[in-house]
Amino acid sequence: MPNKNQNNQNRGQKQLEPVWQQIAQSHELDGRPVIMLESVDSTNSYAINYAKKGAETGTVIIAQNQTGGRGRLGRVWQSPKGAGLYFSIIARPTLKLDDLSKITLCAGLALRNAVASVSGIKPLLKWPNDLLVNQKKMAGILTEADISGDGRPVVVIGIGLNVNTKAADFSEELAGVATSMYLTAGSFFDKGAILAAVLRQVDSQIERLAKDDFKGILADWRACDATHGKRLKWVSVSGEKITGVSMGPDEEGLLHIRDDLGKMHSVLSGDLAILPE
Ligand code: BTN
Repeated sequence: MPNKNQNNQNRGQKQLEPVWQQIAQSHELDGRPVIMLESVDSTNSYAINYAKKGAETGTVIIAQNQTGGRGRLGRVWQSPKGAGLYFSIIARPTLKLDDLSKITLCAGLALRNAVASVSGIKPLLKWPNDLLVNQKKMAGILTEADISGDGRPVVVIGIGLNVNTKAADFSEELAGVATSMYLTAGSFFDKGAILAAVLRQVDSQIERLAKDDFKGILADWRACDATHGKRLKWVSVSGEKITGVSMGPDEEGLLHIRDDLGKMHSVLSGDLAILPE
């Protein structure tokens, strides 16, 4: 039986995050299944395995805590318990897998719009899909593709958003380069309400993509581009380096960089650092 203190804590939590509590009880959100886990290695890994077993399209896997959260380029995604939103969406868009970079841009724009609508914070986008506020990272997305049990391609969109993360929750390494919604706005947010807004936005951007409106998506994306016209250093997965000016993403979702000799490069992946002006 919970003691009096635990009851008080639970009441406090319910008041702070009513939508989150409602999802935890109903296991669904706007008609889509939500699997809420206390702790998991990575919601993306869980979602890929679950999708292979035939999980319903649109299913969301969310965790309070990840012990092996994965970022792009083999990095670790730090996931302090209960502070951030760590979730993966199982999608089966009617698109070619070649269009994965477009889905990646869609997801970034969707997340940015959702954060803006819920909080008024206006993050910028760093290609391919980091959310930046005052040049610090607030969120990242890891999009992975696989083949479902039924042979159809499945896309897992994994989102890590620093919501109520306090400065002390970040490791020393991240302290100067990461931020959260709480640190930016000075108030706490209901993670469930943000999740609902993100899912609505992801649906709407993927629908635009399916209707062949990548041009419109790109225009919206470019309006929030944190790097356009800025000097960058790009390092490929194989270690190739380019220093130059960002020209923004093209019609395929690839980033164009004009190097110091005026040569244009199309970049599909790799690490990007904005150089000081
Ligand atoms: C990045 O910026 O490098 C991408 C970070 C993506 C992190 C999220 S958290 C939920 C999902 N599960 C994972 O293991 N990774 C993604």
